[in-house]
Amino acid sequence: MPCNCCEITDNTFGEDSARADVRGYHKRGPAAQTKLILQAIRSLRLQDAELLDIGGGIGAIHHELLEDVADKATHVDASSAYLKEAKAEAARRGHGERVRFIHADFTDVASDLPTADVVTLDRVVCCYPDFRGLLKASAEHSRRALALTYPREIWYLRIGFRILDFFQKLRSDPFRVFLHPIAEMDALLEKEGFERTSVRRLFVWEMALYQRIAG
Ligand SMILES: C[S@@+](CC[C@H](N)C(=O)[O-])C[C@H]1O[C@@H](n2cnc3c(N)ncnc32)[C@H](O)[C@@H]1O
Repeated sequence: MPCNCCEITDNTFGEDSARADVRGYHKRGPAAQTKLILQAIRSLRLQDAELLDIGGGIGAIHHELLEDVADKATHVDASSAYLKEAKAEAARRGHGERVRFIHADFTDVASDLPTADVVTLDRVVCCYPDFRGLLKASAEHSRRALALTYPREIWYLRIGFRILDFFQKLRSDPFRVFLHPIAEMDALLEKEGFERTSVRRLFVWEMALYQRIAG
């Protein structure tokens, strides 16, 4: 599979952080912002849904939703280390046969992938420069709902992200995190036929649930 961003993301989301995330997941369960996505999706009361988890990391969303809401899932991720851990955890949970794992930049392979009832992007848009391309392709793949988390546009994060950017440049690390404009993301998803039906906020992360408008 082609993968424009895999080299950069593989370096950032490597084996050590993937294993640390799995340990954290085993100890504490899904992270707070992931729980907001899970609650939002469960509130839709879907059954036997098909899930597309983009940038799913260690796969917490599909590990959880395959227990009740989802029948099968596709997990596309640019990090091979995260996919490896997600695959191992899926096998431990007996979900191995129900998840398709794809190592790729989603925007490169989107046109080859089928649509799903639910699309999730948990802390993914902020890792990707072209949020418009990523969100448009994600929206086109959702038949019912799309849930995502992204950093809040708030003063302390603006300062924090500038500092982070400075240190990344100093270390000549090409990986960047982005504080994308929320109003633009919202307008793009509305244009793609979605309506924002729920927003929840934590100190850093905001979660938004979008549902496709019938018709
Ligand atoms: C901050 S991690 C979040 C992982 C997981 N969703 C979570 O919240 O724990 C971002 C993940 O998105 C993946 N990613 C970023 N851009 C991507 C893209 N365009 N296509 C596929 N995966 C992407 C990275 O490889 C990484 O696994």
